[in-house]
Amino acid sequence: MALWVTGKVVENKHWSGALHSLRVDAVIEPYEAGQFIKLGLEIDGEIIGRPYSIVNPPHQRPLDFYFITVPQGLLTQRLQKLQPGDDIMIAPRAAGFLVLSEVPKARHLWLISTGTGIGPFLSILRSYNAWQRFERVTLVHAVRTAAELTYLEEINLVAAQHAQQFNYIPFVSREQYEFALSGRVPQAIADGRLEQRAGIAINAADSQIMLCGNPQMVEDVMKVLVERGLKKHKRRDPGQISVENYW
Ligand SMILES: Cc1cc2nc3c(=O)[nH]c(=O)nc-3n(C[C@H](O)[C@H](O)[C@H](O)COP(=O)(O)OP(=O)(O)OC[C@H]3O[C@@H](n4cnc5c(N)ncnc54)[C@H](O)[C@@H]3O)c2cc1C
Ligand SMILES: NC(=O)c1ccc[n+]([C@@H]2O[C@H](COP(=O)([O-])OP(=O)(O)OC[C@H]3O[C@@H](n4cnc5c(N)ncnc54)[C@H](OP(=O)(O)O)[C@@H]3O)[C@@H](O)[C@H]2O)c1
Repeated sequence: MALWVTGKVVENKHWSGALHSLRVDAVIEPYEAGQFIKLGLEIDGEIIGRPYSIVNPPHQRPLDFYFITVPQGLLTQRLQKLQPGDDIMIAPRAAGFLVLSEVPKARHLWLISTGTGIGPFLSILRSYNAWQRFERVTLVHAVRTAAELTYLEEINLVAAQHAQQFNYIPFVSREQYEFALSGRVPQAIADGRLEQRAGIAINAADSQIMLCGNPQMVEDVMKVLVERGLKKHKRRDPGQISVENYW
């Protein structure tokens, strides 16, 4: 199989600050909601490739990638400048285990993200089987400022379609914002604020938790969940916590 196929940029949407959504037309193999794929550009004669979560659900096109410009980041400094019509290299096949087919049965699904880590969950929320498998699905998006609460149009559509099952809980940590919880997710689990807002409890019997984004958040949330009796999910040793670290 070829290492790369060539895609065409159809849109590079710039949200506030360093956040961008790169939309790409490309032919790739079928994938599962929640997976990531490599994007690449030739930089100084070498192809530089990095993994990015696929934000659109598998049945929709174009491919959508939500990324933040990392200060001094080799690839993201270039990705942010791409224009419609530009070529981009993309791996032909997606990968990754942050997918519902790996998640055991439970009543409640919690999708907990920081920053661009919301990407795989936006794909999962718009794929079909989340709504058949779980009584309640809670999306948590933790960001620094309210302007970083992106993809609200898509989230509102999900909320309208699944009003009885879906709950969206934003966290804004560095300014006051009425609709959001303040502070960080691990503290809000420890002091009960997150469950109070969701109206359901987190426990080993009922909950499956998927975590994505900042590795320190993933570690800190794992810690409070382990204290509650939940454990990391492995195929051979099923648990309740599935994770993807972005760096
Ligand atoms: C499975 C997987 C999926 C990913 N999906 C996404 C995604 O959907 N959206 C996205 O924005 N990124 C995602 N990433 C991160 C992405 O692959 C790159 O690492 C990131 O875009 C930086 O690339 P760069 O070449 O600009 O920076 P580099 O020059 O490679 O690295 C700069 C430094 O920044 C650190 N770093 C990397 N990413 C971040 C970050 N987001 N915040 C802070 N520091 C960081 C790295 O540790 C590195 O030391 C994912 C990573 C993994 C492993
Ligand atoms: N966001 C920006 O405006 C911006 C702009 C340019 C570059 N960058 C760079 O891009 C990278 C990603 O930034 P980001 O803002 O998307 O993500 P981030 O730094 O991971 O912050 C997103 C959210 O995660 C929270 N968080 C951080 N550590 C946590 C932990 N251990 N446990 C629980 N929650 C935690 C943050 O809270 P706190 O606020 O309490 O940390 C914030 O609410 C960073 O390296 C940043 O320097 C960011």
